Amino acid sequence: MNDHGNHSAGWQLTQSAPEAYEQYLIPPMFAPWADRLVETSAAHEGDRVLDVACGTGIVARRVATEVGTSGSVVGLDINEGMLAVAAEAAADSQPPIEWRQADATDLPFADARFDVVCCQQALQFFDDPGAALEEMRRVLTPSGRLAASVWRPLEYHPAYVVLADALERHIGEDAGAMMRSPFPSWEQADLRTLALDGGFDDVSVTIEIGSVRYPSVEEFVRREAASSPLADRLAASDRETRDELVQDVATALDTYTDDDGIVSPMESYVCTAERSVDDVHET
Ligand SMILES: C[S@@+](CC[C@H](N)C(=O)[O-])C[C@H]1O[C@@H](n2cnc3c(N)ncnc32)[C@H](O)[C@@H]1O
Repeated sequence: MNDHGNHSAGWQLTQSAPEAYEQYLIPPMFAPWADRLVETSAAHEGDRVLDVACGTGIVARRVATEVGTSGSVVGLDINEGMLAVAAEAAADSQPPIEWRQADATDLPFADARFDVVCCQQALQFFDDPGAALEEMRRVLTPSGRLAASVWRPLEYHPAYVVLADALERHIGEDAGAMMRSPFPSWEQADLRTLALDGGFDDVSVTIEIGSVRYPSVEEFVRREAASSPLADRLAASDRETRDELVQDVATALDTYTDDDGIVSPMESYVCTAERSVDDVHET
């Protein structure tokens, strides 16, 4: 088995999960989707933008270049570790990005404070996504715009079907469930209904198709594990278990293996909407 240099004995951890998320998952996966979401949001010079559940801040960083120094960007997340990595990664951003720790269902902002709200791959993790959408609408200006993305169900992400099944077999049922959790079984209509119930107008939900690449199956498994709450469990598992896990994933992903490693399709819903102007007058 190849040793890829970032780890010594087995999969010992040399970094926190937020650092691993920024290093391993942002470049191949979340950054390209952030560019698409920012383009969809139509954020432009001078806009005031909120990135809800910003994680390590890739959407906030990308949108900052669109709004320029006459605009402003705030990134909000519930996780302090994610925000610490976000602040470091955006140290040179112009305009500077403001980072706030808070729950998406209770945004610490006045009504009508933002022109654009973005939310990439996070609604599915909220206890009450409807309440979060109501809050997003509340903080938008009249005719302010929402751009939010949520992965399509697991079956549209073949590499993650395989990884979740293998984790369940070799590590435990909860490990499989954890790897499935980013991919809710939401239909397109579920997201549309959530946005409409949240008070938004002009709701549009599109299906966007992309892909993700890793240099090898072992790196796919190791990087995903390191960036997740599974990090400690995987690092603590014995070598034989990890080898069997990687071998199982490699066998199942044979048809997605090529000379550059592995590649897998990924599909996302992208929801755009506007805050209803009438609604602003009523509140
Ligand atoms: C898959 S990450 C996406 C992060 C980021 N939007 C990106 O594209 O990289 C999901 C994020 O949602 C955040 N999160 C989960 N529940 C939250 C809540 N109730 N309020 C705010 N953030 C939350 C997590 O801390 C995590 O950073």
